[in-house]
This record gives sequence, structure tokens and C-alpha cells, in this order.
Amino acid sequence: MSMNSTDQSSYPRADVAPPSGKLFPHKHLLGIWGLDPTAIKHLLDVADGYVDLNRQAVKSTETCRGLTQINLFFENSTRTLMSFEIAGKRLGLDTISMSTGTSSIKKGETLLDTAATLNAMHPDVLVMRHADSGAVKLLSEKMDCAVINAGDGRAEHPTQALLDALTIRRRKGSIHGQTIVISGDVAHSRVARSNIYLLNAMGARVRLVAPPTLLPADIDRLGVEVFHHMEQGLEGADVVMMLRLQNERMQGAFLPSLREYYHFWGLTREKLKVAKDDVLVMHPGPMNRGVEIASDVADDLDRSAIEEQVEMGVAVRMACIDVLTRDLRNGERS
Ligand code: CP
Repeated sequence: MSMNSTDQSSYPRADVAPPSGKLFPHKHLLGIWGLDPTAIKHLLDVADGYVDLNRQAVKSTETCRGLTQINLFFENSTRTLMSFEIAGKRLGLDTISMSTGTSSIKKGETLLDTAATLNAMHPDVLVMRHADSGAVKLLSEKMDCAVINAGDGRAEHPTQALLDALTIRRRKGSIHGQTIVISGDVAHSRVARSNIYLLNAMGARVRLVAPPTLLPADIDRLGVEVFHHMEQGLEGADVVMMLRLQNERMQGAFLPSLREYYHFWGLTREKLKVAKDDVLVMHPGPMNRGVEIASDVADDLDRSAIEEQVEMGVAVRMACIDVLTRDLRNGERS
């Protein structure tokens, strides 16, 4: 199964009015595509409050007490799975992470039968990661509860884009008008795609910096500037997001060698000199140190926001669970 999320003819813009009176009028969070700026801003505003809560000694709330959250991850994860589990627990949900390796999926049960089985247990939130683009949407059509996409194939990773946006907004004061470079393996990156949608919607200037072999085929429709030389792309940048080489999604040769890749495309202090003095360096993780980013750049506390991104991830996921269960908690949804 492969459903391409890029079949859109235009991109959400910051001046589009929300479709209803609700700030977040959606049952699921399947992608950034389709969210208007008001909905994005609302999630970020709610997340801001959870950042404050998460810095206190006592971090738990009763907000979602009595609700049940299932995490269903068909691909490996450290940050996303752990932060969704922590987010659910801090909001008072009963959270269960299903091990797909020991589930009946191993006996051949289909994704849709798995969905029907879990749906019969009446969860209130289902968080899913899957290797196939479109798999989370497919599952959401079989579920009564809110479904959150924790990354599907190369299509979308909406909560990553939201946590990146929260990091930028808190560090820079605004997303609008920032020159933001996304560099590396864009072709295989759901993080890049969700970020492009979100940053365009919120009025940033987005540049992609990558070799032609690592850019997606629909690049002309993404509303971005493209650079094939790193120093040119980094000139005057406010933010640089580096992407991991997604070897697990590559079939065939995309690169001559890792050493050559680092030479031309790895982020080093030397290459960063052309960016703004206060440039913010980001990476969604996990990092390939010495491949897409030099260790001294990743660990530079003055510039690197990589650990802060992880912190924002818990707050953003709390916000998503909170917002998506509000109608349910208010008795407005069956
Ligand atoms: N950024 C991200 O999705 O990391 P994990 O694969 O560890 O969840």
C-alpha cells in the first residue's frame, strides 16, 4: 500500500479563515496538510501551557482521567513513542503501548482487522506509526476514537512539525518571516513534508538544500526555494533543520559515499558561518553524527535546539491529546 500525500494542488496559507467556529475542528490529527493557521496556532498555544507544567516538580493533571490511549507503533521509535506515553500519563489517561512484534499481526492479522479489534475495546485515543504512507488514515476510517499520526511512511509526521514549530516560536518569537533551511534527505522524509506544510502555512520562507537525488519528485509544487549548494542555501538563514539519511527507505544508490556526503552536505561550523549569527540548529533525531551533522554543531548549546525539541515534543503531544478529546470530555461526541 502506498498512498501519496502529495496529491494536493495548493498549499494552506496563513490568511485562510478556519472552516468553523472551533479552533481545532478535526476529529483526528492525520497530517499538517489541511490544518489552517488558526488550528496550528491553537495547538501551539495549548502546548506552551504544558511546557510550563512539565517544568514543575509535579507534572500530572486530571484533565483526561478515565480515558484510554493505545500506542500502536509498527516502526521503531524512541522520542515519539516515549513522549506520547509520557504525555498520556501526565494528562491522566490509561496508556497502553502495544508491542506489534508480539501481537497477532505476526500471525497474519491485517491492519484493518487489528483496527476493528482495538476499536471494540473502546479506546479514546489511538496513536499510530506505520511504514506505509496512508496507513494511519486508512486505520482512522475504522476507528471511533481520535487517531493521531505518529509518522506514516514518507508522508507526514505532524507532531514532529508542531514540536519544531513550537521550538522556533519560543526561540525566535515568531515563525512568520523566518528563513528556514531544511537540509538533507528530503525525498524520504515525512518530517520535511510536514514541516514544509506547516512553515508555509505560518508564513516562513522555506529553503530546501539537498542533492537532486534526495529531493522529492513533486518539488516544484511544495512552495519552497531549492539549493544544490550548501553555503548558498545557508546564506542568511535563521534556522537550519538537518535531516537524517533514511537508509531504511532507500532502494538503490542515492549517494556516492557517506564520507563524500558529509563533505558536501554535512552541517559543520565552517558551513554555518554564512548563516545569521544567532542561527538555530535543529534535528528531529535520531542523528547520524559525522554524516549529516558534525558533533560540535549538534552539541553547541548556544545554537543547537535538539534537546529542546525533545522537551517540546512532550508538551505538543499533550496538547494534541487534550484538544482532540475535548468534545468527548465535554460530552459532545459519542
Ligand atoms: N523524531 C522522531 O520521530 O524520532 P523517533 O523515531 O525516535 O520517534
